[in-house]
Amino acid sequence: MCASARVRGLEIAFTDEGVGIPLVLLHAFPLNRTMWQEQVEALRDICRIVAPDMRGFGESAGSHGPATMEEMARDVAALLDVLHVERAVIGGLSMGGYVAFAFLRLFPERVAGLILADTRPQSDDEDGRRTREENARRALDEGMEPIASAMLPKLLSQATREGTPNLVARVRSMIVSAKPESVAAALRGMAIRQDQRDLLPHIEAPALILVGSEDELTPPRDAELMSSRIPHSQLKVLDGAAHLSNLERPIEFNAALLDFLRQAPVRV
Ligand code: MLT
Repeated sequence: MCASARVRGLEIAFTDEGVGIPLVLLHAFPLNRTMWQEQVEALRDICRIVAPDMRGFGESAGSHGPATMEEMARDVAALLDVLHVERAVIGGLSMGGYVAFAFLRLFPERVAGLILADTRPQSDDEDGRRTREENARRALDEGMEPIASAMLPKLLSQATREGTPNLVARVRSMIVSAKPESVAAALRGMAIRQDQRDLLPHIEAPALILVGSEDELTPPRDAELMSSRIPHSQLKVLDGAAHLSNLERPIEFNAALLDFLRQAPVRV
């Protein structure tokens, strides 16, 4: 079911499908909840999947000022309240993972398990923050086409770009349909996000960490760092995928999620 709810003063659109363990899937930047379509289809028989469009993205309304990871995490918690979901497995890819970390810090008792895909716990350094601001201005001044052209080679591997034009077109269309003001707000929010490395050894929930072997934005060494520090974690490297591993390797990605949800001691 696709729906929307008034959450913390904003209309937030979301997918809510399936029955079973509640699983929240948080999308990457600057995409939207439709990036999880293959996961929704594969998991809806064993999970209740809640996949929101983060504030400003997809069909959700945006706000003024930087869209911080904490604001987005509070949106997710308030949406779960509306849906009467107390605890859930919280999963996110890249920016979605940053929001999952923020959610965990704010609401640890609501996290039954964690899925951290192509993401990292480190905050941005000074260069990273400067680049975010340049990109925010570029999106506002020039629109999303140049951002899409610059991002695609980083999001998808060369083999994916050459071999699956439909997927390239789908990702491009998600990027170019994003609103420049929301993109700038999320870039500014990511630039000031908290470093989460200190949190890792204290994570009690079971965690599944996924990464594409060719991911250059959040490379396998970031995934290894998380897996070495999170006590109950398992790491799955998806061969040949770059940053959007759920889209590039949906069969392997879904199999890893299914194994994790069936075997890990996920308590809801
Ligand atoms: C994403 O895919 O969400 C972005 O690459 C995250 C980031 O820019 O740090």
